[in-house]
Amino acid sequence: MAAEKIFLIGMMGSGKSFWAHKISKWIKSGGYDLDSLIEMSEEKTITEIFSEDGEAYFRKVETKLLKWFKEKKKYVLATGGGAPCNQENIDFMKKEGIVIWLDESVDVLVERLIQEKAHRPLIAHLNHSALAEFLQNKMLERAPFYKQANFRLSGADITEAAIKKIIKNAS
Ligand code: S3P
Repeated sequence: MAAEKIFLIGMMGSGKSFWAHKISKWIKSGGYDLDSLIEMSEEKTITEIFSEDGEAYFRKVETKLLKWFKEKKKYVLATGGGAPCNQENIDFMKKEGIVIWLDESVDVLVERLIQEKAHRPLIAHLNHSALAEFLQNKMLERAPFYKQANFRLSGADITEAAIKKIIKNAS
């Protein structure tokens, strides 16, 4: 298992982009965000892609750009919440490097996402209770994929020390 390529997975709002940014500094290498790459490549926001082209198209682009990382050497990639949720994508990530699941509780996710749901098309229209129900259901649906991660950090265990330990031990 090589820690040269690190993939962060988990629900929206779990902190993948935040941690990818930090990790990129520790490993002194590129930190990427799959959603941002999709927006750059399509020259549209995620919201526009969902509304104009549909989710199925978004998922195709997501898989295509994920595969682009095969050519790259050392990096950390924050994936979108749905990116590992097809077997091809999670298999790819595990073959290429290590996969860390940031497993934040639904309660915490709701509090974070209610503030910044506007640019997330799957939840933009939901109020507090509908968002909680949506996330609960999504979590159940996605858990079989998230559970395939090499490492899982839950709630209060998502710390700098814990992530550094994983990276060190996997090197
Ligand atoms: C999605 C999560 C989003 C983005 C898209 C769909 C999902 O990424 O890819 O809105 O299906 O959970 P973040 O997890 O970075 O918010």
